[in-house]
Amino acid sequence: MAKNIQEDKQQENNTGPLFALVTGASRGLGKAFATELAKQNINLLLVALPGDGLPELCGSLKKEYNIKCDYFETDLTEKNSIADLIKWALSGFRINILINNAGMGGSREFVTAETEYLENMIALNIRALTLITHQLLPELKSHKKAWILNVSSIASFSPIGYKTIYSASKVFVQYLTRGLYQELKDTGVFASVVHPGPMATNYQVAERIDCHGVFGKLGLLSPEYVAHRSIKLLFKNKSLIIPGWFNHMCWFVMKTVPIRIRLPIISRRFKKELTDTKQ
Ligand SMILES: NC(=O)c1ccc[n+]([C@@H]2O[C@H](COP(=O)([O-])OP(=O)(O)OC[C@H]3O[C@@H](n4cnc5c(N)ncnc54)[C@H](OP(=O)(O)O)[C@@H]3O)[C@@H](O)[C@H]2O)c1
Repeated sequence: MAKNIQEDKQQENNTGPLFALVTGASRGLGKAFATELAKQNINLLLVALPGDGLPELCGSLKKEYNIKCDYFETDLTEKNSIADLIKWALSGFRINILINNAGMGGSREFVTAETEYLENMIALNIRALTLITHQLLPELKSHKKAWILNVSSIASFSPIGYKTIYSASKVFVQYLTRGLYQELKDTGVFASVVHPGPMATNYQVAERIDCHGVFGKLGLLSPEYVAHRSIKLLFKNKSLIIPGWFNHMCWFVMKTVPIRIRLPIISRRFKKELTDTKQ
């Protein structure tokens, strides 16, 4: 565990346990974050949709790592869910780590995408992340040291046709977090953004990764590795985290190749993904 977390724990021992709140914790990268934090003896508050194994995960993490763990099942795309979540979290827990991981991905042609798909992506990837961060900030600031980790994507490094709304939502996460990092510089709260590349977290994602052949495979990392690396770098106060050498290289290429060249090339790949996976 990082030294400053240990110091923080010692200083706050008298005032009750501290917790990390992780959204989208029932599976994939969120579950890997929860497990990584539990391994570091950090108490957990887990958030995900109802009926997807959150109580069982919470129970097994408590037992295996001897930590405190509680959970809140909610659909974060629903209007009142954020207020309910924050009310629950602040009524009984002291929170010094926030991991905004819940997010939905996918590729769609913008013009034919269902309105509900667009609404859900904006509600989860943008609205929920923004409001949870905003409403937990007073609690985070009340501690000597606190951390926010927001999950973006390498898809935020360029606009991408056929992944238009996803890459736009993730660049929002990037800009929000970078701006917040600057605003919070003189406080005890540290804000960081992680840009994972492909992780085969579920069947649909695995199928999409397969369509990209060798390019998909080169950047492929396990959620456990991404979670481990991200938490390590978060506690080292790295404000921008890109796990994996290939994803780092992608970031460099996106920065250096002009948009008029990269935009059509990348978009063509995702147009092909749409036809190959019949989404
Ligand atoms: N996988 C990748 O290749 C990849 C690459 C770059 C970035 N990312 C980002 O990494 C994050 C995690 O991705 P993942 O692949 O691990 O996703 P995942 O396997 O689909 O898991 C998503 C998690 O979010 C929860 N969730 C989904 N919709 C929700 C809602 N409306 N309300 C509350 N919780 C909700 C899910 O809960 P349930 O289990 O209850 O459904 C699950 O715990 C996302 O922000 C994603 O954009 C993923």
